[in-house]
Amino acid sequence: RFATVATAPPDSILGLNEAFAADANPKKMNLSVGVYKDASGQTPVLRCVKAAEQRLVDGEKTKGYLPIDGQPDYRDHVRRLVFADSIDASRIAVVQTPGGTGALREAAALMNSQLPAIRVWISTPTWANHQSIFASENIPYDNYRYLADDKKSFDIAGMLEDLTGKTKPGDAVLLHACCHNPTGVDPTAQQWNEIAAVLAQRELLPIIDFAYQGFGNGLDEDTVAVRAITSVCAEAIVCSSFSKNFGLYSERVGAVSVMSADADTTTAVKSQLKSLVRSNYSNPPRHGAAVVATILDDSELTAMWHGELTEMRTRIKALRRQFVDTMKTTGAGHDFGFLLDQNGMFSFSGLNPMQVDELRNKYSIYIVGSGRINVAGMNEERMGELCTAVANVIEN
Ligand code: LMR
Repeated sequence: RFATVATAPPDSILGLNEAFAADANPKKMNLSVGVYKDASGQTPVLRCVKAAEQRLVDGEKTKGYLPIDGQPDYRDHVRRLVFADSIDASRIAVVQTPGGTGALREAAALMNSQLPAIRVWISTPTWANHQSIFASENIPYDNYRYLADDKKSFDIAGMLEDLTGKTKPGDAVLLHACCHNPTGVDPTAQQWNEIAAVLAQRELLPIIDFAYQGFGNGLDEDTVAVRAITSVCAEAIVCSSFSKNFGLYSERVGAVSVMSADADTTTAVKSQLKSLVRSNYSNPPRHGAAVVATILDDSELTAMWHGELTEMRTRIKALRRQFVDTMKTTGAGHDFGFLLDQNGMFSFSGLNPMQVDELRNKYSIYIVGSGRINVAGMNEERMGELCTAVANVIEN
């Protein structure tokens, strides 16, 4: 039976990790998957996480199942992180999910089961997994313009034109709350207001992918999109991930928050979300959520987390600057100054697929095919090596 199964292509992002692991070149560099690395090249366990885990080991009394929708105090913390107290809690159904991908898949499953004929609009470009997630739930998708032809700036006019002229009322629009993946190009606060106004006017359902809260300008500052949208739209979905901002990648901790117009609708939506979880993975894993809740329940650990998050954000910005400055010294004659306006872990370098291939084949430097470089994976000491290789492939 299985003899008819065809081989699937490797994942365009995670597949690169496999290729990287198999590369014997001692000078190899992995700037593909969005994972933070410190100056020693490690993806560290945050100090606040270690402290919380110690408390959990000492105090944990059971490995019994969590509720279907996850750990209650964790869910409450998610709601406050994302919405502050701007929306009444009775209007928000939060369900703990395995990571941000799990949150998006749960949102897509809700759409598939409850919102027939819905279509989702996705930015060009976007995170490579977005299309697959919606396709897996049979949700048709289309694209709206996002990155301008110069590959450096935000095409606000194109985006608004597509959302106004191409969508049907009731369609969904997938948005990146901050640190747009893969471009790092974000709308300004004023542009978010304009986008939100179109979403409201056209009765579009915003699905906000919030995987990088705290990596743009700060935890609260990064809620600018959520605030703009929820102040004019009655309904929205927010998909959170705590992989990056707590460094809890492998613990798979995230949440889907569905904001409805009133409390009764929220109760119904919550019941449907739970029934989808039950038939999918039954109930979520405890550890990551318990770590997040332990940190956010404690003011000292929360302060420690804020400090560590600021440290990561600041260091990534410094690496961005160092890359741009070092590129200047290579004499490649290509100004990368536009990277300084981008936010988050990634730099959209503008390198074309042939240049990306050359980086990998000649220098064992791995970046994503779209030209996305994970700045959070760069290393101060190896910046010269990286920039020389980039300059060489540009000049070829
Ligand atoms: C990325 O875009 O590299 C990260 O979000 C990791 C992933 O799952 O793709």
